Amino acid sequence: MVFIVHISDFHVGSISFQEDLLLQSVDIINDLAPDVTIMTGDLTENGYYIEMEQAAKYLEMIKSPLMVVPGNHDARHVGDQCFRELIRDRYGCLQNLDGIKIMGLDSSEPDLNYGKVGRAQQAWMENQLDDASSKDMQTIIALHHHIIPVPRTGRERNVLSDAGDILYSIIKKDADIVLSGHKHVPHVWMVQNTAFSTAGTVSSLKLRGKDPASFNTVNIDDDNIEIFLNTADGKTSCLANYENVRR
Ligand SMILES: [Fe+2]
Ligand SMILES: [Fe+2]
Repeated sequence: MVFIVHISDFHVGSISFQEDLLLQSVDIINDLAPDVTIMTGDLTENGYYIEMEQAAKYLEMIKSPLMVVPGNHDARHVGDQCFRELIRDRYGCLQNLDGIKIMGLDSSEPDLNYGKVGRAQQAWMENQLDDASSKDMQTIIALHHHIIPVPRTGRERNVLSDAGDILYSIIKKDADIVLSGHKHVPHVWMVQNTAFSTAGTVSSLKLRGKDPASFNTVNIDDDNIEIFLNTADGKTSCLANYENVRR
């Protein structure tokens, strides 16, 4: 079994950033001891160097291996350059997990809110998915922007500008899970064999209605894939439970 924590949208530097929520979640995550923790962007509010340094310190507290991709807020004020210096490469691969390849994509554009994966990363992703398929590995793609619109988020305006092309590649290549953040609304869409799972914000008050801060967890075993919502009030609920057709 592979157990994954999916966190998103710290928003360090925002007046709605809540350090106590983040430290509480880091403690829970370290107790859960996942095989990997995936952070899908908006580590910072403005992309400022000092915010990125602080976000890097929080990431260092997480004991599991990490995959981190930037969000639109991290690409403000040359934050994309700070990200590379202080966090890691903006896209890449993690494949030392049991039969699973995780691909991180940079969907951010400097000083813009909308997202774009672009043809170069799309080709890279397709090659990685082909390679995983030839090795019979399961595949997870992490990127900040949602590819499919998320319910309860009003007028759609921040979707990927190349969402149709990226969605087509992902479905055609039969990826297993796509993890995103950005809208701060946890949700799962199933399209054919692929789950498109969005996480809430783990440590800010940029929330809708009475939604609490939250993160997601993903269990992958030989029979099923389960995605759970873990809220700051300590509750856990199932977002999706479906057959693992790959194993
Ligand atoms: Fe965000
Ligand atoms: Fe965002």
